[in-house]
Amino acid sequence: MIHTDKLAKTFTVKKETVDAVKGVDIDVAPGELVAFLGPNGAGKSTTLRMLTTLLTPTSGTARVAGVDVTADPAGVRARIGYIGQGNGGGHSFRVIDELVMQGRFYGMNSADALARARELLQSLDLADLAKRTVIKLSGGQRRRMDVALGLMHSPRLLFLDEPSTGMDPQNRANLWEHIMRMREEHGTTIVLTTHYMDEADSMSERVIIIDHGRIIADDTAARLKANLAGDLLAVEVAAASAAGVRGLLGRAAAGGEVSENSYDGVVRFRLRLPEGARLAPGLLLEMHDAGAPAQSLELKPPTLDDVFLELTGRNLREGANR
Ligand SMILES: Nc1ncnc2c1ncn2[C@@H]1O[C@H](COP(=O)(O)OP(=O)(O)OP(=O)(O)O)[C@@H](O)[C@H]1O
Ligand SMILES: [Mg+2]
Repeated sequence: MIHTDKLAKTFTVKKETVDAVKGVDIDVAPGELVAFLGPNGAGKSTTLRMLTTLLTPTSGTARVAGVDVTADPAGVRARIGYIGQGNGGGHSFRVIDELVMQGRFYGMNSADALARARELLQSLDLADLAKRTVIKLSGGQRRRMDVALGLMHSPRLLFLDEPSTGMDPQNRANLWEHIMRMREEHGTTIVLTTHYMDEADSMSERVIIIDHGRIIADDTAARLKANLAGDLLAVEVAAASAAGVRGLLGRAAAGGEVSENSYDGVVRFRLRLPEGARLAPGLLLEMHDAGAPAQSLELKPPTLDDVFLELTGRNLREGANR
């Protein structure tokens, strides 16, 4: 469905160049759900905008739905849906008319467009707002209308740039329900970007992590976490006995860092423990035998944020917060 070869984009603004995307190779098979994850400015939107023909690549090639983006942009556009990061609608039209118009642009007849618009308004929880003008919608409502616009012509391949940003949890859930149903019913291929790590984590089969215009990881969320991060262990011992377990914990971290801070006569150690659930019991016993029994223990599976931290030394969330 998507194949790119060293796809790159350089912007030049007032003689200053920005290498926004530095040669990415992406392959997406029909029916896949792929999430692009990365901090602000990583190059996610620029990549999506090249794949959707809104930007011309500086170098490299991309085929989308079997069509070359440079040779036949109109052919690509006819085959895809795109929901941009910004708001698409912004006019004094009514919501329902905006949707019908979009359907008509894609060659649907009026009756089909109206039926499809009603269906989408219902499932995106916008039915009550059908007759409101677009400029009067709240941010989250407008975002949902943008999503409806992208879905009007039931594309086989759908690009969504931060579809759920600004939505409340209930509407995020509605949106995801709708996206999942589209996949099941129509086998839609979906490529999206998100700042919500839980979305990338639980909804997509595959996560492509982008940083500084390069792909630094491309795998299932489960494998990325298993391979790179290890479980996070926080364990507390009495300050008086802490010295007895430093070496032990250092070995358990298998070369990783062990951080510690102390408060109220307790020292809290944090480390990354590969296969935490399997190794933690033995470690606790060893600590006990070393005269420093654990006073509390917390073992957490890693998140994609931990994966990002491991890969870049930076925190994804810090970069991603707006
Ligand atoms: N039209 C443009 N002209 C100049 N620079 C641009 C343009 N569009 C994007 N950039 C720059 O390219 C880089 C990548 O931007 P891009 O919008 O692709 O990031 P992103 O990963 O989508 O970030 P965000 O999470 O903030 O949406 C940034 O440094 C940005 O400032
Ligand atoms: Mg973006």
